[in-house]
Amino acid sequence: MSTILVTGTAGFIGFYMAKSLLGRGLTVIGVDNFNTYYSPKLKTARDEILRKNRNFVSVNADISDLKSVKTIFKDYSPSIVCHLAAQAGVRYSLKNPHTYQKSNVQGFVNLIEQARINRVERFIYASSSSVYGGNTKLPYSEDDRVDTPVSLYAATKRSNELIAYTYTHLWNMQTIGLRFFTVYGPWGRPDMAYWSFLDAMQCGAPIMVFNYGKNQRDFTYINDVVNGVLSALSVNGLDQYEIINLGNNKPVGLMDFISILEDLSGLRAIMEMAPPQPGDAIATYASIDKASSKLDFKPSTNLREGLQSFVKWYKDNPAIVDAVRSFRLSTQEP
Ligand SMILES: NC(=O)c1ccc[n+]([C@@H]2O[C@H](COP(=O)([O-])OP(=O)(O)OC[C@H]3O[C@@H](n4cnc5c(N)ncnc54)[C@H](O)[C@@H]3O)[C@@H](O)[C@H]2O)c1
Repeated sequence: MSTILVTGTAGFIGFYMAKSLLGRGLTVIGVDNFNTYYSPKLKTARDEILRKNRNFVSVNADISDLKSVKTIFKDYSPSIVCHLAAQAGVRYSLKNPHTYQKSNVQGFVNLIEQARINRVERFIYASSSSVYGGNTKLPYSEDDRVDTPVSLYAATKRSNELIAYTYTHLWNMQTIGLRFFTVYGPWGRPDMAYWSFLDAMQCGAPIMVFNYGKNQRDFTYINDVVNGVLSALSVNGLDQYEIINLGNNKPVGLMDFISILEDLSGLRAIMEMAPPQPGDAIATYASIDKASSKLDFKPSTNLREGLQSFVKWYKDNPAIVDAVRSFRLSTQEP
């Protein structure tokens, strides 16, 4: 695998994946449209770090534009695709359905079709724990039925898995879908609770504690996720069609999460208790038996250690944190 196309490299997980592949001496073609779902300054800052490596090519393009996607395959002939670009976020999908169709469905079809035409060796893509939707059996296993998505975001991620199945069935193309579970860490996503809660605590603003604090999340540290994706890119012995959970296998309740964040930051949270949010799962909890046997996946960072790294990064990067906050206040999104 010499040239790898990674989509979403200005985003959180794509940035880490590109960094890690470049660190292994590989050439990375990074694609992102630097959209304004959250502060583009954070995206540009990640991209600037990647650009320092001469084996990184940064392409500003929208994957929903077929012409751009065709040009990228023609210009760079990648042997592997690691497709991480998407419109993320469950709550935003309630108000902005078309963005999800465009980036997550149309964009996905553009990429997988070009990957097929150009005989890419392996097509790895990001799915999500959200496909488990209203399921109540825990932990979530890849064998569970997943036909009750409770948000449009989840429905688009599930549709990616079904489209990938068709491509494997029709063309024997190797497609590997990775269901990520609440990924967090330095350079993370400002729309997620670990960032937005810490930021509110820093500003003395209240935080909304949905479902009265009873939700549970299987927080998974970014370095652990990167190890899982790296393995999916190169390991032997995978089937042509795979769906694999990448989670921490240790769900944590929201109130415990807040108290660890308070402890590590030395700040107090002003909590406003609220009913469940539409689209939110009550609990996420990954079975990682399959990841462990097929990818040798062993998450090793507990929530306290991982959050400590995030809190340190947040304190060490006030310019980025301020830019993200100003952007959020000016747009009121997400
Ligand atoms: N972070 C998590 O907890 C988590 C959990 C489950 C699944 N995922 C999935 O993992 C992937 C990466 O997520 P992330 O947390 O890094 O999110 P992110 O929003 O930080 O990164 C996604 C990147 O994709 C880019 N993008 C979006 N639409 C695009 C388009 N049409 N054309 C080109 N670029 C586009 C965005 O600008 C962004 O930089 C996504 O597919 C997401 O759905 C993430």
